[in-house]
Amino acid sequence: MKRVYVNGEQILKGSVKVSGSKNASIAIIAASLLVKGEVVLDNVPRVNDVQEMLELVRSIGAKYDWIDINQLAIDCSELNSTTIDYKLTQRLHASILLLGPLVGRFGECAISLPGNDNLGPRPIDLHLKGFKLKGIHADISNGQIIVNGRTNQDSAIYLDFPSVGATENLILNSVLGNGVTVIQGAAKDPEIVNMASFLTSMGAKISGAGTDTIKIKGVPQLKPVRYSIMPDRMEAGTFMIMAAANRGDVIISGVVNKHLKPVTAKLREAGAEVDEVDGAVQVKSTQRLQSLIVKATPYPGFPTDLQPIISAALTTAANTSIISEKVYKNRFQYIGELRRLGAKIKVEGNTAVITGVDRLLGSTVTANDTRGAAALLAAGLMAFGKTEIINAELLDNGYENWVEKVSSINGSVNIVN
Ligand code: EPU
Repeated sequence: MKRVYVNGEQILKGSVKVSGSKNASIAIIAASLLVKGEVVLDNVPRVNDVQEMLELVRSIGAKYDWIDINQLAIDCSELNSTTIDYKLTQRLHASILLLGPLVGRFGECAISLPGNDNLGPRPIDLHLKGFKLKGIHADISNGQIIVNGRTNQDSAIYLDFPSVGATENLILNSVLGNGVTVIQGAAKDPEIVNMASFLTSMGAKISGAGTDTIKIKGVPQLKPVRYSIMPDRMEAGTFMIMAAANRGDVIISGVVNKHLKPVTAKLREAGAEVDEVDGAVQVKSTQRLQSLIVKATPYPGFPTDLQPIISAALTTAANTSIISEKVYKNRFQYIGELRRLGAKIKVEGNTAVITGVDRLLGSTVTANDTRGAAALLAAGLMAFGKTEIINAELLDNGYENWVEKVSSINGSVNIVN
């Protein structure tokens, strides 16, 4: 395991280009299972979660090849199984996204139930409810999810929480076949829009992606295309928040400005200067941030994946900030570690109350999940002295070349193997 040391209180300056979206890539790799022939994807980040998704599709016969550093070819012409190995599914919660396309293409799939992960319980009841409403048999038996049936009837599905994964799975399941599927209460995240537009470019008939009502009309088959993955808004937001927290001046390029609105608004409210130009954002901060009230809610709300990082930034803000987490039941695990750096945070249920301190002091901390690790990195960059982050390799799951990128904006990160 690598030991990562961060030397804090270096002002972040310079520019950084964001990579392609990890979560859009994962959904689009799942979508590639629906087509025979070679799909070419550009702007795919080389992060561990994407690699895990590729191993999952390879385990059932897909072929993939990195043509260039971020260019990937996937060929799912000859799949040989609809049963997914337990060991692979346990490594990536998003393995559940194989259900929709495999059932859509072959009428069946058996996959191990994803276990709890470091974000706590992550039920999949909405996915199963959606399949059942489409007249597809979906059951859990001996730790396996077993789904059988075809999309041949018209159906209307109402999701009572806008789950990203359930929305993606139900779209993926409805693309091939005869019926019309309407999903109401759908998640509106840009990654869903990106996946839908990939599918549409291959001949799928999908309307309403990005709104809460999505309509999919089944088609007999898709044709392979070349497609470019959208920029990673979580990586962009992470660098924006780090720059604001650090009295920095950083240009973050390769972004879609409208995806970053909730972050831009909150950083401005906290007193940072955020200048948007098409495809880039410059974040400058010359003084201590002001406290904020942040609610992590489904898109277009403030993203839960950035909740740990903005919390880290607010540990040294003037006055008291209140953070509420409305998406996950257990996303405050990193807070105990921030306290080790001197942060004053009280947690009650899904709310954290952060009393700003003058400065954080470097210490040893342990990361539990990718975004928690990013919060500890942000805090380490703010803290006086040296911070050792144990399990910092969790950042490799979601942040491409993070050591190089942080170093390129004057952050001092050293890895000792
Ligand atoms: N939920 C249910 N029942 C379901 C599905 C979800 O109760 O059937 C609950 C979950 O337990 C969770 C909440 O709804 O509390 C949100 O789950 P959702 O299905 O929306 O999330 P996901 O599809 O599992 C994706 C991202 C996550 C991101 C969430 C929320 C991917 C591969 N993952 O997960 O990203 O946090 O949406 O925006 O797209 C990350 O990138 O670090 C990450 C965890």
